[in-house]
Amino acid sequence: MKEKTNIRELFSSAAERNTFLKICAPMVRYSKLEFRSLVRTYGTDLAFTSMIMADSFCKSEKARLNEFTTHKDDTPLVAQFAANNTIDFLSASEMVFPYVDGVDLNCGCPQRWAMAEGYGSALLNTPELIADMLGTVRRNMPSSFSVSVKVRLLSSTNQKRTIDMCRQLEATGITFLTVHGRTAPEMTKVPVHREALQEIKQSIAIPMVANGDIFTLDDAEQMYSQTKCDGIMAARGILSNPALFSGHKSTPVECVKRWLNICQQADTDITYQCMHHHFSFMTESLLTKRLRLELNNLSKEKQNVFEFIRAHLPIDSVVDDVSLQDYPEKLSCSYNDQIYRQRAAEQGAKNGSTVADGCAYDPEASDGNFFRSKRAELDDDVAEDVDGVAFMDGGSLLFDE
Ligand SMILES: Cc1cc2nc3c(=O)[nH]c(=O)nc-3n(C[C@H](O)[C@H](O)[C@H](O)COP(=O)(O)O)c2cc1C
Repeated sequence: MKEKTNIRELFSSAAERNTFLKICAPMVRYSKLEFRSLVRTYGTDLAFTSMIMADSFCKSEKARLNEFTTHKDDTPLVAQFAANNTIDFLSASEMVFPYVDGVDLNCGCPQRWAMAEGYGSALLNTPELIADMLGTVRRNMPSSFSVSVKVRLLSSTNQKRTIDMCRQLEATGITFLTVHGRTAPEMTKVPVHREALQEIKQSIAIPMVANGDIFTLDDAEQMYSQTKCDGIMAARGILSNPALFSGHKSTPVECVKRWLNICQQADTDITYQCMHHHFSFMTESLLTKRLRLELNNLSKEKQNVFEFIRAHLPIDSVVDDVSLQDYPEKLSCSYNDQIYRQRAAEQGAKNGSTVADGCAYDPEASDGNFFRSKRAELDDDVAEDVDGVAFMDGGSLLFDE
């Protein structure tokens, strides 16, 4: 079993120091072991896994191996699950328990497929079900193990329903709560409702993590002083600058070098897609648009990407230090799915179904909306620049720190 960190104590210790925990968000495709290792070297206090489908995790060894990896230094760590019933959430939590410091229930995902199957923000319509899922896991786990939930606002104007829901969730005994300060239908262009986050924080006693629109450490500090929250979670901001929490205004080249080293050492443990998308996001402020376009369109060979990065960024002028080279071995995780199978069979006997093997869900089967939207934005920008606005080419670096 991996050494454990007590997340409740982390929050208390931050509060005693009059500060907040800096948290890397759960991000499908991206909050993988290798990226978590990178952001931990830049001030991240707590990292989440990507959202893992609890039912696939329980049913399929292949899904477990694909969706979850860790190493001895990968702590504090929260595994986030998408689940729409208590058996799946409890069983997945028990199975992952030896390797993480807490589990989190996703009640924020607004995607159509998730809503249709009762996952993510669809759960916000059934707070009793969320409460049952969280309460059951809480009762079955040691109190030092964190159980949490990530929700969104239920309304942008009146927080009564959201506050009632948060209090109901708090009553299940959870360790902390994350609130993304937008409603499910609100797009990212709608600014986060900070006053709503402040109101929620004042209404509950457990630590609250505020999430939304954090792109610099200054943003995080402002969010903290405005809402008095206990933790700040960043998603898009930390993709485009993994060194955000250490105060860098944009990605330092040293961080790109660390990513290069991690990817080379992780070798086949990291997919081409994950390695490449992260390079693409984190070099946004370092490369010209035309180079970024070129990077996006490289042929799918890791070596080409490594050579491209070395050719266009002053990687070799960054002084090496020990931590740049020292990347721990991945742990070999083993899981016991007997209890899940028994529970699912008993449940199936009640409603006439059987436990199927395998899983159809593969988040890496496509590039995903986030990368596609970034790519489309860049394609449009470059077309516009070529059409009219002056465009600087020639591999010059855009250091805007
Ligand atoms: C690429 C991507 C993947 C995401 N995946 C998840 C996820 O797995 N679980 C989750 O709760 N939220 C997920 N989110 C939402 C973020 O955690 C966060 O709530 C949202 O992006 C707002 O924070 P931001 O303004 O810092 O980006 C994802 C967001 C992005 C951009």
